[in-house]
Amino acid sequence: MARFFLHTLTPRPRLVVQTASGERECLRFSKQLAVLTYLAARPTGAGTREELVGLLWDDSGLRDARQALRQAVYQIRQNTDHELVAGEAVLSLRREDLDFDVTLFREHLSAGRLEEALALYQGDFLATVGLAGAREFEQWAEGLRQQLAAERRQLLRTLMAKATDQGQWSEAARCARELIEEDPRDLEPRLRLVELMALSGDLIGAQVGADEIRRLAAQTQGERLPEAIETAIGRALAAGRAPERRQSAGFPRHPEMVGRATEFRRVVERWKSALEGRGGCVLISGETGSGKTRLVRELERRLRRDRSLVLTSVCNPVEGTQPFAPFLEMIAQAHAVPGLGGTSPSSLEILAALLPEIAQQFRGAIRPRQPPIPTEALAGALLDGFTAMAEEVPVALLVEDLHWASPVTIAFAHKMARRADRVALLMLLSAQDVARSAEKTSWLRDLAASEAVDSIALPPLDAADVAHLLSTIARVPDERTGSLLAARVVQHTAGVPLYVLELLKALYDGGQLAVKEGTWVIPDQLTDDRIPLSFARSGPNLLRQRLEAIDQGARALLAALAVWGREATVQEIAQIAELSEGAVREGLDVLARRRLLGRPSERTYAVLHEQMGEVALAEVSPVLVAALCRNAATLAESRAHAGPLLEWFVAARHAAAAGDAARAALDAARGAAAIEVRSGEQAAREELRSWLDTLSDLVRPDVEARLRTVVEGSTSATGWVKTVVG
Ligand SMILES: Nc1ncnc2c1ncn2[C@@H]1O[C@H](COP(=O)(O)OP(=O)(O)O)[C@@H](O)[C@H]1O
Ligand SMILES: [Mg+2]
Repeated sequence: MARFFLHTLTPRPRLVVQTASGERECLRFSKQLAVLTYLAARPTGAGTREELVGLLWDDSGLRDARQALRQAVYQIRQNTDHELVAGEAVLSLRREDLDFDVTLFREHLSAGRLEEALALYQGDFLATVGLAGAREFEQWAEGLRQQLAAERRQLLRTLMAKATDQGQWSEAARCARELIEEDPRDLEPRLRLVELMALSGDLIGAQVGADEIRRLAAQTQGERLPEAIETAIGRALAAGRAPERRQSAGFPRHPEMVGRATEFRRVVERWKSALEGRGGCVLISGETGSGKTRLVRELERRLRRDRSLVLTSVCNPVEGTQPFAPFLEMIAQAHAVPGLGGTSPSSLEILAALLPEIAQQFRGAIRPRQPPIPTEALAGALLDGFTAMAEEVPVALLVEDLHWASPVTIAFAHKMARRADRVALLMLLSAQDVARSAEKTSWLRDLAASEAVDSIALPPLDAADVAHLLSTIARVPDERTGSLLAARVVQHTAGVPLYVLELLKALYDGGQLAVKEGTWVIPDQLTDDRIPLSFARSGPNLLRQRLEAIDQGARALLAALAVWGREATVQEIAQIAELSEGAVREGLDVLARRRLLGRPSERTYAVLHEQMGEVALAEVSPVLVAALCRNAATLAESRAHAGPLLEWFVAARHAAAAGDAARAALDAARGAAAIEVRSGEQAAREELRSWLDTLSDLVRPDVEARLRTVVEGSTSATGWVKTVVG
């Protein structure tokens, strides 16, 4: 049975037939094709001869016109060898033998097959052809053309939103570009494109796009650019200003996030229901380097696009023990948010006791509670505060690396998660599956298993993901080479994103991979399984190999950053590494050139990834590490003196790592005493105990013994310390 296809959404309208030997064209655009098209577009597939004559031969006499129509129907039969159109007064189309692209396009649309629909639409309906003496047909075609074009625009907008909800910024940008092409004067898709280019790391493209918007707006709106547009441009550009976007990771472009569309969308769906008042909690887990931070940061960008309050915090190993630390930090960030005023006065009084920002904001209205504040009361006040905020505007709480947090904090996160379903609040947590202590692991496991928590474990990237990743950095010369290289990279790295990128950087630095004029140059030996790659297979060994390429001095700086465990300014690094600021800057330059340096903010530096920090520490001499730890302890002590009392525990941790148990015990006792003042004896006891638990078995007994002597030798130290260590 012959099968016909009528193409009209194309610059070259035609009727083709599928035969065993392939496709054959039967008709080009002509009045015959117009007859077919009109009938195909009718709901019934039929039309009277009169109607057709009026549409297509309005400049002929009736008799000639009827004759011409008969002729056209005859020619259709001749050209197709088939009775596609038949009938007397009414002509009908044999629809069962013919596919019509317009009908298919609409079927795809209503079935949600959006990509298929878009692929079918190659051009506007009959836009490139004209028929002499068929004004009515032209008018009819124009009407349908406009309808279909509007349907396509809607489709592009939907696809753009969908890609945005999957974190696929450049895919979304592609849709925006098509919308712009469709209507170059419409500023809306141009603004979206600027934002999406910024998000996908193309800052130059985004700037160019922004200038183009300003130019267009000036043309239509005169000299003075409306403020709304300038604001919108600013907002769109801001999307790309995150520090990590400025680094291209050593490649011509920052690689895009790949292979996380499902996970991204799952969180966005949760967010959408949170916006409607049914909040929730999502826990993202995975081994180190699996892409938790990346996913959370990309999600943050998506969440910020809605009218909402997005608060973020990161737990880290050196500050880990402070109860509620990330949540206190987030509520302090939000101290000026209107919703916080809806918190009950008693809760505000508790928060104000701990957070000077809040005491300041509500001075006059409330009196900070007199410490100590029991843990339970603080938990209640925090819950109250976040809930009140979420009543004013939807809130997202992003807490990273919860495995470093104290058990009390993890338990609080669980409580918050159970509360979230009744408020416009999404809590997004990330954690490594294995926390440091067994106790924490069980708290984390409970959290992950909780009904109130949607758990997402990040899978490794597969070869298709890595092929995609390659193509977001530079053009891949041909698909086969790209997939071969991707498959090898996955084999070599188990698909862990951190190692995938480090391997690519190593190949790139070693000159084995290059980018020329925007295209990857992939030599045969990289795609040939028989030739082994000259890089270590184990992830940490691969990192070690990367570090071997830099000099001692730069490695020591990296070790200093790793010891500090948080972001640091040049001055702070100089103090820890005992170097001049000039020398530090030079070393940081080396690290940046090798893409081993993170830039959390304009003024601060950090290791690019904590795993790299750990490897760096193992690479320098233990004597140097001990010295760095001592200096870090000194720096933390001076900070503790300046105010943040919990820095005492940080100092104590560094001192313990330096092997100085006496100093560690003294600092920890000072920290515990500070907490006792603030939160009472029980909190201090718990804090001290959980801090001790995070120490390695090698140093803990020593520190405990020293704590006992500290307590005994001092008249002021409280007896309860003995109950912790004794
Ligand atoms: N899905 C991904 N696509 C592209 N790059 C990724 C992806 N996931 C992670 N990366 C990159 O891999 C590195 C390590 O990821 P990161 O998010 O820091 O891991 P984690 O937080 O789980 O330790 C980062 O450079 C990050 O940008
Ligand atoms: Mg991380």
